Amino acid sequence: MSTKNSKKETVCIIGLGYVGLPLAIRAKEQGYDVIGLELDKNKVELINKKISPIEDAFLKEKIPLFPIKATTNEREIKKADIVLICVPTPVDSFHNPNLAPVRNACEMVAGNLKKGALVVLESTVNPGVSEEVVRPIFEKHKHKIGQDVFIAHCPERINPGDPKWNVTNIPRVVGAFTKKGLQKAQSFYESIVDGKIKPMKHIREAEACKVVENSFRDINIAFVNELAKSFDAMNIDVKDVIDGAATKPFSFMAHYPSCGIGGHCIPVDPYYLIERAKQAGFDHKFLRTSRTINNSMPEYTVELLQDKLNEIKMPLNGTVVGLAGIAYKSNVDDDRESPYYEIVNALKKHKAEIISFDPYLKNKSTCKSLKTLLEKSDAIILVTDHKEFKTIDGKLLKENGVKVIIDGKNCLNKNNIKKFNVIYKGIGR
Ligand SMILES: NC(=O)c1ccc[n+]([C@@H]2O[C@H](COP(=O)([O-])OP(=O)(O)OC[C@H]3O[C@@H](n4cnc5c(N)ncnc54)[C@H](O)[C@@H]3O)[C@@H](O)[C@H]2O)c1
Repeated sequence: MSTKNSKKETVCIIGLGYVGLPLAIRAKEQGYDVIGLELDKNKVELINKKISPIEDAFLKEKIPLFPIKATTNEREIKKADIVLICVPTPVDSFHNPNLAPVRNACEMVAGNLKKGALVVLESTVNPGVSEEVVRPIFEKHKHKIGQDVFIAHCPERINPGDPKWNVTNIPRVVGAFTKKGLQKAQSFYESIVDGKIKPMKHIREAEACKVVENSFRDINIAFVNELAKSFDAMNIDVKDVIDGAATKPFSFMAHYPSCGIGGHCIPVDPYYLIERAKQAGFDHKFLRTSRTINNSMPEYTVELLQDKLNEIKMPLNGTVVGLAGIAYKSNVDDDRESPYYEIVNALKKHKAEIISFDPYLKNKSTCKSLKTLLEKSDAIILVTDHKEFKTIDGKLLKENGVKVIIDGKNCLNKNNIKKFNVIYKGIGR
């Protein structure tokens, strides 16, 4: 195997989650000595046993081949020539950005730094965090930027569960405070990523790229979610329309409506931009509206169920509603910000009896299998388009006495289901 790290440098990754762990394994694969620092002792234990704490094909395959040393000991940072910070950047219940994990990680790194190390923030942040939060922490610890420490930002773009794009081939953008820092960061990423690494003129621009990418998705999804509601009122199948529009080979990009957006990125990152712009005196009206539309989808999904149950004179109160899927997207075990939770809240308001099954989150499911979920349910909401749910058809629903299905991901065959006299309703179809 050819590796790209001829100097045998040591890389320390702070935070071994969906972002940090694949990165750590990739750096090891490319010949670096790798230390992974992680607060969660369970994760540390599993990783040191070469077991992936995350359900992911790339990680399952690569961890045994390129094992890394995981630790909770922050003094290990002293050994690192390159430190990559991959900690969470959540929002609180009022959608205010919470930069405490980034601050804590920076304090830890600044307090244990090898002179001349490259420190890269990979976490998604709003423009200004490197200058306003990261830099002052290193300066407080008396590190001279560009001499004692080189600080860069390279926002992570990984898409967990994606069979084509992963940490090895996704192109990256990178920004830094100094020319030398930028060169160091660019050359490090070129040694681990086969895709292009684009240097940005300013660290703030690198930060902005990531929030723009995810805000772009949020806005486009909000548009089709709004179309779904409008087309429901006009009895038009939005999925068919989008598929039709997508035959235009230029200036159109298909996005699809659903029961809600989840994950640690799209429903979170736009708030970082909204809030920072607010401090600068700008109101991101368009983004705020998109967030409101997308946040309304779980409740809308439950309203659709209520309407369909009304047609057969069943109240939601007391009806057993089976939720197929807990994770926010197909074939992953990640339930952060999943619309599942808001759907549960809306169903609880109507006193529905809720049961659930997710093959990737069995410990959070109330049923042991899809079979049991279907057997026990009067109605189903498909929350996640896991491959295991693609077998749901009219015959199976009818046999199990399911009367209504709300297809929250528009991934089932509506005509087949209707043929068996089961009430089908998708999101905008
Ligand atoms: N999940 C994604 O698909 C994705 C994609 C691109 C970018 N991002 C961004 O990457 C960042 C990380 O996201 P993630 O999904 O990997 O989060 P995660 O929660 O899966 O992983 C972060 C890990 O960091 C650990 N941690 C927190 N503080 C720490 C500290 N001080 N020292 C050591 N470990 C610490 C946590 O225990 C956790 O295991 C976020 O900013 C996110 O927005 C995520």
